[in-house]
Amino acid sequence: MKKKKIELNFNSAHLSELDIQDVELITNAKESLSTAYAPYSGFLVGASVLLENGKIVNGSNQENVAFPSGLCAERVAIFYAGAKFPDVKIKSIAVSVFSKSFEVNEIISPCGACRQVMAEYEDKQQNSIKVLLHSPNDQVLIINKVQDLLPFMFKNPHLKKY
Ligand code: THU
Repeated sequence: MKKKKIELNFNSAHLSELDIQDVELITNAKESLSTAYAPYSGFLVGASVLLENGKIVNGSNQENVAFPSGLCAERVAIFYAGAKFPDVKIKSIAVSVFSKSFEVNEIISPCGACRQVMAEYEDKQQNSIKVLLHSPNDQVLIINKVQDLLPFMFKNPHLKKY
């Protein structure tokens, strides 16, 4: 038996320390909070995707009374980017959160399903996607690639053939 290790490198910063491109993307994610439809959880999430062509695609969480039918902000933004610009690579995604009903001070990180979706887009484009996680008190976690968030992602090259 061999013992193996996975190391996760990430950065933590205040919004004011980031470069202008990252701040702009986070600002878009923050503004997208206003488009969230979250009457059931009261938890607003905004996600913005920066593409290689410089365009920014915004998304937010969209809930439904049939709970599993709703979708997280990250997937709304990523799928929207994939549908609108299918051949353009994704450089980074910023996620911002807010709730009127309770205080959110900690960094919220993407759910497993969103990680799997982002990881496949990263794998498909053969270029890392940077993830910026922004909290209401302007703390930001910077993860250089989605793979770091989902080391054992589900991949099956055989399924692509059909
Ligand atoms: N949510 C997101 O939009 N992104 C995540 O990464 C986690 C959760 C949404 C789904 C639901 O609308 C609300 O937050 C509460 O789970």
